[in-house]
Amino acid sequence: MREKMWIFQTADNPKCLFSVWNQWCLYYAAVACLLLSPVRTEDVCPSSCVCARESGTVTCRDGEDTEVPGDIPEWTTTLILKGRNISTLQRGAFMSNGTELEMTTLLLSYNGIQVIEPYAFLGLPRLHRLDLSHNQLESISARAFHGLPELHSLILNHSILPRATEQLSSALSPQSLRNLHRLELAGNMLKYIPLVRLDMYNLRTLVLINNSIESIGGENVTVLYQQRNIHVFLSLNPFRCTCELEAFYYWLKNSSQCPDAGRLLCSEPEAKMGVPVVKLRAEDVDCMNENLEAVSYVFLGIVLALIGVVFLMVLYLNRGGIKRWLNNIREACRDQMEVYHYRYEQDSDPRLANVAV
Ligand SMILES: *[C@@H]1O[C@H](CO)[C@@H](O)[C@H](O)[C@H]1NC(C)=O
Ligand SMILES: *[C@@H]1O[C@H](CO)[C@@H](O)[C@H](O)[C@H]1NC(C)=O
Ligand SMILES: *[C@@H]1O[C@H](CO)[C@@H](O)[C@H](O)[C@H]1NC(C)=O
Ligand SMILES: *[C@@H]1O[C@H](CO)[C@@H](O)[C@H](O)[C@H]1NC(C)=O
Ligand SMILES: *[C@@H]1O[C@H](CO)[C@@H](O)[C@H](O)[C@H]1NC(C)=O
Ligand SMILES: *[C@@H]1O[C@H](CO)[C@@H](O)[C@H](O)[C@H]1NC(C)=O
Repeated sequence: MREKMWIFQTADNPKCLFSVWNQWCLYYAAVACLLLSPVRTEDVCPSSCVCARESGTVTCRDGEDTEVPGDIPEWTTTLILKGRNISTLQRGAFMSNGTELEMTTLLLSYNGIQVIEPYAFLGLPRLHRLDLSHNQLESISARAFHGLPELHSLILNHSILPRATEQLSSALSPQSLRNLHRLELAGNMLKYIPLVRLDMYNLRTLVLINNSIESIGGENVTVLYQQRNIHVFLSLNPFRCTCELEAFYYWLKNSSQCPDAGRLLCSEPEAKMGVPVVKLRAEDVDCMNENLEAVSYVFLGIVLALIGVVFLMVLYLNRGGIKRWLNNIREACRDQMEVYHYRYEQDSDPRLANVAV
């Protein structure tokens, strides 16, 4: 609309030159100025940023600024803010003068962001990809990601401090992220999947590489089986390869939903450290087997104890006979000894006599 008017103005310009005193012409010039001025402010690039209008990209790197630039051009589709010192993302941090932006990609890695306030991304209804990697998030509002109906990819690699992991579960609620297809959470020391209900999202890819997940229990494996479309990356987690892992082990083997299944390693128990989870034998994760083994040891112990008891009983019941038997032996021994003694005495005399001679 504005552009059409402007073209109309320039087309009128020659006429203007010929009738300088025409009041109408002055009027048109004034209108043209008014119409052109906002267009010019839109072209202004925020200080310490680089703007590429053809690609719709605004890049702001390594500045002293501690805030998001306030004057982001309306034509921006990709905003890259990197290496700045933004400790808090406030409500509507990306609203340019109270108006919505058509931005689709927002990359905010390495900005030292610690706090995300409620509705921080308000006014970005078209946002498709949000990268918050390599920050130090210690507080994330439960409504941090509200107002992002079209968000497809949320990237939070190496960004979440342990004290924020519980808040993360509420912030990643399916209500606010119903179109999320890709969630990357690598390197966050997570002990479990921070999603309250996996089945309420539309997730296709979940990256949990390099966290602290030791096991994924049976009920959650059931949910994973049901979510046929989801792929979960899980390498570099310290799996505890006991029989707790049974359901997960079979899921790895026959669901093909874990693309890096071959790279998952056991870190416990010590005997299985470094062994790939999929290379375990079925017996290693068989709880029945483990229980049976324990049961058989107990059984062996009981049998041995019974044998001992029976033996003692036999001894006890036969104590009369045993006493007699012992006495007999003692008597026999004594008799024998006496015979020896006698013989010794008889033999010793002549020998002594010989020695004396
Ligand atoms: C970042 O900004 C805060 C104040 O907002 C300041 O205290 C801190 O020293 C700054 N850090 C760096 C690395 O510049
Ligand atoms: C911002 O909005 C105020 C009033 O809402 C207006 O006066 C000002 O011209 C606007 N600035 C830009 C750059 O659009
Ligand atoms: C996030 O981390 C994972 C694992 O290190 C990596 O594969 C992925 O490319 C990272 N994502 C981005 C956007 O850097
Ligand atoms: C895993 O994440 C930690 C931080 O949580 C990082 O220091 C380490 O370099 C990462 N390892 C790999 C192989 O990416
Ligand atoms: C299943 O996952 C939820 C979070 O997604 C977690 O709270 C729960 O402890 C997990 N259960 C098992 C058995 O792993
Ligand atoms: C996975 O494999 C195990 C063992 O081969 C089998 O008992 C189980 O039924 C399979 N589960 C699915 C869902 O295919």
